[in-house]
Amino acid sequence: MKQTAKAPSNIAFIKYWGKVNEQLRLPLNSSISMNLSGAFTTTTVEFSSEYPKDEVQLVDGEFSRDEQDKVIAALDRIRQHANISARAKVVTKNSFPKGSGAASSASGFAALTVAGFAAAGVSLSESELTVFARIGSGSACRSIPDGFVVWEKGQNSDSSYAYSLYPYTYWDLRDVLVIVDSEMKKISSSAGMEQVTTSPALAARLAAIPQRMEAVKTALASKNLAALGEIIEEDCIDMHHVAQTQHPPVMYWNETTKILIDAVKHWRQSGLPVYFTIDAGPNVHLIYEGKDEAAVVAEVKKIVGIETVILNKPAPGTTLINEHLF
Ligand code: PMV
Repeated sequence: MKQTAKAPSNIAFIKYWGKVNEQLRLPLNSSISMNLSGAFTTTTVEFSSEYPKDEVQLVDGEFSRDEQDKVIAALDRIRQHANISARAKVVTKNSFPKGSGAASSASGFAALTVAGFAAAGVSLSESELTVFARIGSGSACRSIPDGFVVWEKGQNSDSSYAYSLYPYTYWDLRDVLVIVDSEMKKISSSAGMEQVTTSPALAARLAAIPQRMEAVKTALASKNLAALGEIIEEDCIDMHHVAQTQHPPVMYWNETTKILIDAVKHWRQSGLPVYFTIDAGPNVHLIYEGKDEAAVVAEVKKIVGIETVILNKPAPGTTLINEHLF
């Protein structure tokens, strides 16, 4: 059977940085995110005894050997669970150009998991699907549920799953992803977080997270952008502080990243409610409400060094669709 899934990327308001279990990708802390409408992956999976081996294709690009191996490992987990042995053909397509700097592992493993289990004829609950997506790439579990999503760190694999807090229609928050460097990032998030326990700042970050999670939930409940934005920025700076104080240090920002951080403060002082957050790379996400989109984009365009922008609204989670890629 052939099945196709469409999965959004997501941006974390409270970030995942570091694992207690590398293989199962159990995180050191819970996290919370919003699905992004402008950056998504579509994947078609077909299992068939006609295929002599797994075939993995990326439309408009090429998977590295390592990426192919990770996809095949995910197919193996699906086969094992479904008790089938047929090989698969997988074709996947990103809405954003490879090398645009937009994250693709979250949307990629979410789409692969949902399409893969459907193609294998196995029906899992949403939380079970998030567990399998998490083993492919931690943040992928947050791309399966709808809209605004919590990933509980849990105690073991089954309890480390993601669920929707609010649907995508709940609040017209926006995220413009400002691409300041379209080169592929030099240190992947997986590699970057490997040495997390060498940072003396880790203990303070982990101690602060439960309170931050509650503060984000409260801000979301009351749709309070100022309260939300303050915590988002605090947690972003904290995550990067941990990364920068690891041995060896992991530095993701460039000059334009810092210029944007300063600009955001300046825009706020002049009355434009906008906040920043940054993942494992130099590109900056700006968070604001729909009513301010034109003003935010106009300000961003004045900054020198920006390559492109990707506009996002909150998005539904991963869904099966009827348009197959082959
Ligand atoms: O799941 P990964 O390996 O893509 O790691 C994600 C790490 C951050 O993007 C920096 C934070 C997060 O929670 O998304």
